Amino acid sequence: QHCILVGAPVDSGQSNPGCLMGPASYRVAGLAGTLSELGCSVEDRGDVAPRVSEAGTCTNAAVHHLGETVSWTQALADAAEHSMAAGLPIFLGGDHSLSLGTVAGVAAHARKHARPLFVLWLDAHSDFHTPMTTRSGNLHGTPVAYLAGLADFENFPPFPDPVPADRICLFGIRSVDPDERTALRRHGITPVDMRELDERGFVAPLSAFLDQVRAADGLLHVSLDVDFLDPSIAPAVGTTVPGGATFREAHLVMEMLHESGLVSSLDLVELNPFLDERGRTARLMVDLTASLMGRTVFDRVNRSL
Ligand code: ARG
Ligand code: MN
Ligand code: MN
Ligand code: MN
Repeated sequence: QHCILVGAPVDSGQSNPGCLMGPASYRVAGLAGTLSELGCSVEDRGDVAPRVSEAGTCTNAAVHHLGETVSWTQALADAAEHSMAAGLPIFLGGDHSLSLGTVAGVAAHARKHARPLFVLWLDAHSDFHTPMTTRSGNLHGTPVAYLAGLADFENFPPFPDPVPADRICLFGIRSVDPDERTALRRHGITPVDMRELDERGFVAPLSAFLDQVRAADGLLHVSLDVDFLDPSIAPAVGTTVPGGATFREAHLVMEMLHESGLVSSLDLVELNPFLDERGRTARLMVDLTASLMGRTVFDRVNRSL
């Protein structure tokens, strides 16, 4: 497996400075070496730099850093499309607004190769605002609406081949704003929320989605928000929500993703190293990535219990 690390030091999609240090933190935590030890060939393409931003404006006065976010979107879409052609890109964030760009680039690649694109969104939040509905004005709360093809993104490049509702899996969700709930319902997206995961466990809902990807011979983009995890194990994020995935649940998800063999691109987002405790969140994110790329205690295929 050829892994391509793409740094995306995006900090403009929210209001808690520090995510721009994310890519550096993953490198210090040893992501490249960890992947090499698993037998991956690793290519670090350094950090993406956006072109100079034109000052964009939005009718919704709450929205901030619109021009900068549009610039990041364009630059990251290019970087994502190029890296998809060469291997499995891992985008080192950066706040979640970076996915406006990475998923756009991945979608352009999928369209070119006539492959259906599926998106697994591991997050406390549904990130289903548009620039018109967000109250916080934080554009990291909008990428799922963008990739689903909702209107009201007129400052942004048109999303290439919006992802149909039944190919989007929002997983681990426990914080949804009223406008997002309305829009999700109207668009036909039913998140796999924490209530469902408590009742059914993590395996059944995730397997069902992965079966769908496999049956369609799809590409699978995974977007891992640090706040998917419980704040007790992952404090380095500006938008903690109690009741997140435990250490064991999160590793199980990653191991299932590895065993599926379906993942074709990955975002690591929302790590704010300024809020971390002696690097523990960065290290956990690296370990989760290792599980996704095949780190196991015993090879399940050959295991006899
Ligand atoms: N829904 C809230 C908002 O729009 C929170 C979004 C959090 N998003 C994230 N990527 N952490 O402000
Ligand atoms: Mn291509
Ligand atoms: Mn998010
Ligand atoms: Mn989140």
